[in-house]
Amino acid sequence: MKATDQYFDGIAEKFARNIYGTTKGRLRHLLLLEVLTPYLDNRTPMKVADIGGGTGIMSKAIADFGHCVHLFDASEDILSLAQEFVSDDENIQVFLANIQHIENLSTYDFVVCHAVLEWLAAPLDTLAGIYHKMKPGARLSLSFFNKDAALFGNALYGNFDYIAKGMKVKNQVRLNPNNPLSPQIVLSSARDMGFDVERISGIRCFHDYMKEKQLSDEQFSQLLALEKNYMEAEPYCWLGKYMHFMLKKI
Ligand SMILES: C[S@@+](CC[C@H](N)C(=O)[O-])C[C@H]1O[C@@H](n2cnc3c(N)ncnc32)[C@H](O)[C@@H]1O
Repeated sequence: MKATDQYFDGIAEKFARNIYGTTKGRLRHLLLLEVLTPYLDNRTPMKVADIGGGTGIMSKAIADFGHCVHLFDASEDILSLAQEFVSDDENIQVFLANIQHIENLSTYDFVVCHAVLEWLAAPLDTLAGIYHKMKPGARLSLSFFNKDAALFGNALYGNFDYIAKGMKVKNQVRLNPNNPLSPQIVLSSARDMGFDVERISGIRCFHDYMKEKQLSDEQFSQLLALEKNYMEAEPYCWLGKYMHFMLKKI
């Protein structure tokens, strides 16, 4: 059977609850914001495309810096949650679109593509397509599910059979991405395409490996500070559950 991209129709509510209603989701969002803030703060208003933007949490945060954001997603279910979430924000517009078919990407100063590549049948081809459509000088904030971290985490849990079978996801675990990516492969592909890699960060380098994940507010703050301190430091950054690359089209 031919692989297809996985839109979030039918699992939108579950995604919103499981991902953003948890420590995991909060940490991911706060750490991504930490990386993005220097590119958003005190800048003349930019035109931003949040592609595969989901429920709009990041679009909203970016719009709060005064930028104009267009959120694109291929899932109608996801977009109705996004529409509800951003309805009172006139700096955000929401569009039903497949990433591969966004034709006006060259009009944006800043493109956000977070946690989408791992759901695509052909992630690197899609990345090349994004590169070709972007205008020179524009940036791509790219984050994706890290295959190396997935292997490491599964080893810690003793999931040896799962690793031996190539960590292939059964259909029922639908919030587990089909297609985690190797950071080194994405990095070298991005460089070959012509991107300048400005910044490399690991998103959640420690949290997912912790034995005790029930955290008090104080422990959460301490963990957040630790994650921020080490997110760009070797070797920790390479084991972030997600990788983040800030890429500039030169
Ligand atoms: C894990 S969610 C990430 C959402 C958001 N970027 C975030 O970081 O929370 C992945 C999103 O990609 C969307 N998606 C998957 N394939 C797509 C495609 N080919 N074109 C547009 N959106 C797509 C899904 O519908 C889903 O909303």
